[in-house]
Amino acid sequence: MVDSLKAEILGAIGATTDPAALEEVRVAALGKKGRVTALMKDLGGLDPEARKARGAALNVLKDEIAAALNQRKAELQGAALAARLESERLDVTLPARPETEGRIHPITQTIDEITAIFADMGFTVAEGPDVEGDFYNFTALNIPPEHPARQMHDTFYLPDAPDGAKRVLRTHTSPVQIRTMLANKPPIRIIAPGRTYRSDYDMTHTPMFHQVEALVIDEATHMGHLKGAIIEFCRAFFDVDDLPVRFRPSFFPFTEPSAEVDIGCSRKGGELKLGNYGDWLEIMGCGMVHPKVLANCGIDPAKYQGYAFGMGIERIAMLKYGIPDLRTFFEADLRWLKHYGFLPLDMPSLAQGLAR
Ligand code: DAH
Repeated sequence: MVDSLKAEILGAIGATTDPAALEEVRVAALGKKGRVTALMKDLGGLDPEARKARGAALNVLKDEIAAALNQRKAELQGAALAARLESERLDVTLPARPETEGRIHPITQTIDEITAIFADMGFTVAEGPDVEGDFYNFTALNIPPEHPARQMHDTFYLPDAPDGAKRVLRTHTSPVQIRTMLANKPPIRIIAPGRTYRSDYDMTHTPMFHQVEALVIDEATHMGHLKGAIIEFCRAFFDVDDLPVRFRPSFFPFTEPSAEVDIGCSRKGGELKLGNYGDWLEIMGCGMVHPKVLANCGIDPAKYQGYAFGMGIERIAMLKYGIPDLRTFFEADLRWLKHYGFLPLDMPSLAQGLAR
């Protein structure tokens, strides 16, 4: 009787395939209304001799069942873990994604490259809105109303803001200088890449284009730092170690002194090549931030000074990647993007090398 019950229960334990079934078997055998428990209760009706022998046999049975339950539990847990490990298996040597048709647009790539170079020089990235107040885009940059520089910008004017403020689509990224100085105390060291807008359209102009601005303000920065940073940038970006860089006096309302930056090139045979060939190509404007601009932003020009520069991103992307027509950047032509675009996982970094 005890032997056949034992065989039956151990068989049931062995046949379970999950913890819930195993628990059912346990309750049916050892639970309050379990079969072994019932036999224990019956002991009271036996005479002392028989009770002793049967009690001992039942205790052995109980121990054996408990041991079998524990062993089966461990087996089921091990099997569950093994199944989970199998189903969550990862081959870490696989590429993150199969190669797709998508490409990084040359403008995005160029912004990433510019950011990598300036990040290495300690600059962080700042941003401002595309819909900009006339104050930030012009007035605070020392371009008051009626100033002739306003005409040069072919501005898109927008309806006034609800509070009556004049609004424009920003014509350059320089207003981010103002926003950054109003919101932060020096030392300041930022670049600001982003979209800009002017009403103009031909081989070298589109109504929307991109610029990157740089601004450094502290107590000690001078024109030598400006030159050093720009020369370093040009040589790193165009990957020409001895690229000549020339600073030519110029005028901007928001810098004094101001300069335009030229890099060395050759135009022989109608082909443009960058390097030490005797010819020059203009690529950006720069200068020492005008004391009036500092004062407009609540920064004491007697204590603080610094430099700024700004350049067109399409222009330097066209130069570096040999893209002849600016308008093609924004035609969203997949064949063009496949040709000039970059692979998604090739993020530019100084350590890995920028694209060339
Ligand atoms: N904002 C100027 C433009 O769009 C470019 C520029 C020139 C930016 C000189 C500067 C600067 O920060 O110092 O033509």
